[in-house]
Amino acid sequence: LNLPPCAIVIFGASGDLTARKLFPALFSLHRSGHFPESFVILGCSRSELDDDQFRARMREAVERSGDFERQAWETMAPRLYYQQVSYEDAAGYAALAARLDDIDRVQGTRGNRLFYLAVPPTLYETIAACLGETGLAVEHGESFSRIVVEKPFGHDLRSAQALDAILHRSFGEPQVFRIDHYLAKETVQNILMFRFANAIFEPVWNRNHIDYISVIAAENLGVEHRAGYYDKAGVLRDMFQNHMMQLLALAAMDAPTCFHADRVRDEKVRLYRGLKPFEVADEFKDLVLGQYGPGMIDGKHVVAYRDEKGVDPRSLTPTFAMIRAFVDNWRWKGVPFFLTSGKRLARKASRIVVQFKDVPHSMLHEVAQERLEANQLVFGIYPDEVIHMSFMAKLPAPRLCLRPVVMHYGFDDAEPGPRLEAYEKVLLDCILGDHMLFWRQDGVEQTWGFLTPILEMCETCGELERHLHSYPAGSWGPERAVALHPGFARDVSMKT
Ligand code: BG6
Repeated sequence: LNLPPCAIVIFGASGDLTARKLFPALFSLHRSGHFPESFVILGCSRSELDDDQFRARMREAVERSGDFERQAWETMAPRLYYQQVSYEDAAGYAALAARLDDIDRVQGTRGNRLFYLAVPPTLYETIAACLGETGLAVEHGESFSRIVVEKPFGHDLRSAQALDAILHRSFGEPQVFRIDHYLAKETVQNILMFRFANAIFEPVWNRNHIDYISVIAAENLGVEHRAGYYDKAGVLRDMFQNHMMQLLALAAMDAPTCFHADRVRDEKVRLYRGLKPFEVADEFKDLVLGQYGPGMIDGKHVVAYRDEKGVDPRSLTPTFAMIRAFVDNWRWKGVPFFLTSGKRLARKASRIVVQFKDVPHSMLHEVAQERLEANQLVFGIYPDEVIHMSFMAKLPAPRLCLRPVVMHYGFDDAEPGPRLEAYEKVLLDCILGDHMLFWRQDGVEQTWGFLTPILEMCETCGELERHLHSYPAGSWGPERAVALHPGFARDVSMKT
């Protein structure tokens, strides 16, 4: 990889995201030789620290991640700097700009800057505006200035548009990188390869052959230490507007003409435009919401969502949702897409299940007892990183005897090669300026356009309590979900 020199400026450098995810990923990239020769990491936050104190904290963070290596640390530490910034204070940004100019001179980073906002989204606007006012968003000659933001990109359509307007006051769309870490998973990147680098699947990838598609992101974790954020967001904002919608697009979009970030994102947006608007008048016909009660996870008792630290004891925030969505186009008319995600479910399972139709007529119904099971293709995303295709086969036996069997590809069976964690991959792509794995604003708006009426319906119906189904932690969610999608239990629990 031919990476340009670069200064990575992390806002929120003393925070949790930096210590848990970002810095360990940066260290790992450096350790595995993936980083540009001239790079610098400049931490910024309100905390009063000097360069050495920042280095000590980052060292602890890497040690905690279990990935520490002394030699790599010794070459990385001199490239770490710290600058105290009060986010609203313009003078602080002027000092930051001067510091970056100095760093360019000493470390040869050539004016290339990546501003990573590892701060609460309420600060995005302030920081982006201040960067703009200080001239730090301007790209001079060959140099680049990029801004990286994490979801949530707003909390509904209107706020997403407002946030974008602010970002765009200072940064052009090519300078903005909206992260979705699901896109950086190897198994997720592989979906388009599977579909469009093979000729045999595309002819059957439509309403004539597919019965339904189930997109599942089940977690056994609860709300953890994030109640402050989660109790306002809930599962629809936390998982659907981003990861679930990306998985849906990858499973259902048309083939782009070339594997270029904007051509791929054009096709995703075309798919989102085809989403049939949710029939709010029918209220909960295509939607199941749930909230976890107490239960058992891995043999241990866990508390109900409402008893989690920081959660309102009368909270009506959903921790589980299933949406039955439809795409109104020739390929998918009438095919249900079941999108399901929840916390404190029986186990972690992220997967896409493509359920094919039954054979049109069984020649065997008089001779064989077995029911023919329709073919199923599973993209296991995590923890089972597999592709799994089931089909019926005759078992060797004197009497006619059929069984479903599987063809199986495990990512672990592939040639071992350097594998990047999701955060490592997105950081590399930001430095390279490759937008393939990032949201484009039109996609953000289309997906909010689909979800906002659902959120409004839930948040204004006044009867949410009646529609919010409790489920025991450690189960597969509310029973009502099985009523909406009878295949759910099998899709989610099937061994791959
Ligand atoms: C995050 C959500 O985006 O994704 C979390 O905010 C969720 O609530 C996480 O736990 C799931 O990611 P993964 O990679 O563990 O499936």
